[in-house]
Amino acid sequence: MCGIVGYIGHREAFPIVIKGLQRLEYRGYDSAGIALFDGNQINLSKTKGKVEDLKNKAKEISQAGSIGIGHTRWATHGVPNDVNSHPHYSNSGNLVIIHNGIIENYESIKQELTKRGYTFQSDTDTEVLINLIEEVKKTEDVKLGKAVQIALNQVVGAYAIAVFDKEKPDEIVVAKLGSPLAIGIGEEEFFIASDASPFIEFTNNAVYLEDEEMAIIRLGKEIKLRKIKDDAVAYPRILELQMNLEEIEKGGYDHFMLKEIYEQPRAIKDTYRGRLLAEQGLIRMAGIDLNMEKFLNANKIIIVACGTSWHAGLVAEYIFEDLARIPVEVEYASEFRYRNPVITDKDVLIAISQSGETADTLAAIKLAKEKGAFVFGVCNVVGSSIARETDAGAYTHAGPEIGVASTKAFTTQITVLTLMALKLAKTKGVFSETKYREYLSELETIPSKVEKSLESNTLIEIIADVYKDSTNCLYLGRGYNFPVALEGALKLKEISYIHAEGYPAAEMKHGPIALIDEQMPVFVIATKKGHYEKVVSNIQEIKSRKGKIIAIVTEGDEQVKDLADHVIEVPETLESLTPLLTTIPLQLISYHIAVMRGCNVDQPRNLAKSVTVE
Ligand code: M6R
Repeated sequence: MCGIVGYIGHREAFPIVIKGLQRLEYRGYDSAGIALFDGNQINLSKTKGKVEDLKNKAKEISQAGSIGIGHTRWATHGVPNDVNSHPHYSNSGNLVIIHNGIIENYESIKQELTKRGYTFQSDTDTEVLINLIEEVKKTEDVKLGKAVQIALNQVVGAYAIAVFDKEKPDEIVVAKLGSPLAIGIGEEEFFIASDASPFIEFTNNAVYLEDEEMAIIRLGKEIKLRKIKDDAVAYPRILELQMNLEEIEKGGYDHFMLKEIYEQPRAIKDTYRGRLLAEQGLIRMAGIDLNMEKFLNANKIIIVACGTSWHAGLVAEYIFEDLARIPVEVEYASEFRYRNPVITDKDVLIAISQSGETADTLAAIKLAKEKGAFVFGVCNVVGSSIARETDAGAYTHAGPEIGVASTKAFTTQITVLTLMALKLAKTKGVFSETKYREYLSELETIPSKVEKSLESNTLIEIIADVYKDSTNCLYLGRGYNFPVALEGALKLKEISYIHAEGYPAAEMKHGPIALIDEQMPVFVIATKKGHYEKVVSNIQEIKSRKGKIIAIVTEGDEQVKDLADHVIEVPETLESLTPLLTTIPLQLISYHIAVMRGCNVDQPRNLAKSVTVE
């Protein structure tokens, strides 16, 4: 979590750093700060609140200078307040740092530094780190780069840092372990950021630091990369970025979330473009083709993920078992990594992550690799840590997802996982050619069916208005749509702060039905294919207890219409593809309810887009 930005070059640093922070605000937004070097002194401003608040506060300092670093924070150590915000000075006031991550052993280092006379203004681990760097610099009589390298060998934890030293004003030193750090390379200028979005309009060339690498970024020189462990020289791999500016702007929508919901027809198409060749009856996926034997001979597939990606994993469990007849287990990455799981070199682990940076998912991957399993990644962010850490993988190609609530990430993950399952089913011979071709053709129709589902937006807005003041909601689904119910509930709670729970519809009688009264809205996914009659019975049970029923049904459904208070239609499709459609109205309902309640849809409280701490 947290976003870091830096600039060193010939332009004014202030606007670049501020704009960069605004683009990275999805990573954390409880406080923000900036430090600028005007050629003489460091001018620093920081505040609790958003980057917009920082922009106002920074009017109190000189905004001059072509070197600057900035930070937008998701608090770990110390409450979000002005003092705990980054950047942090060292005791001498010569060094200044921004940090994304956690220094786990900061307490013991702090004690040692305190004994040596250091004092601390904030409660943060980061202020400890900058003073450790200062102490090393002094006692070892070394330059900034060397001091950073020695100090980092004494810390345990995760970091992406940028450090500036007033006594060495032509350079910024950066380092990475666990948290992402990209360096944009322009003409006689460099940019530093947690992802490439802050510098995309200035350069397409970037270096992504690997874990345990650091770089000395010096004006007028090439960047020098070193291994933190032994100071050995490393060689930068310059990547050409594909991202464009339009993708990271709102494009006329009020919120990124709404834009991303509406992008789904395009995003799903981009996910299968070049992979799904329906006319030829082919699915091309290099990551699967090259590792087919591993999948086909797997004892089991284990899927690890968190949050929405975990819900996509649950859908995948149904798809892989139903279509490809391969046993699947789905685990929260955070549980898997700490529970001594039975995993061998005969297993395949699939890690799903939009950001590709989720700390628990990364740790689960490392554990599975240690046990010899083959690890396959399904990520959206190209070049992310998970994409690099896995043995093979498939990108979702959803384009940048900036709203904290995942929307297009979910549907594109399901699309990739469906392609994988179909390919495996066909190769295993579980599917007849006819059935296989039917799936391929149907998958090709999904983008237009998503578009059709989006047409219910006005109706959904009306329904949202009816339920916007609810305090609790239930979401029910069966089979393929049970994970969709979970996802619907997560979407509502994270952006509107209404308590919501998802259940398999049949579980109602085992407890949750006690909650139902005339105040309780129950969202039920009741599409024609997939346990329809059973779900209708569940709807009857809710109705007889006076619950309010909002049903997601297949176009033309009459039976549920008579029972439910509201129905929202989605087009008919194959059962395994229904989650790609039924999730759309649930995304929209959460969005509208959150907007009507005056919530910050794109940046809900206490959350961050990239969860790089465990
Ligand atoms: O980047 P990831 O997919 O690994 O993120 C996992 C979760 O943090 C994420 O899906 C989270 O639950 C979303 N905010 C939900 O909308």
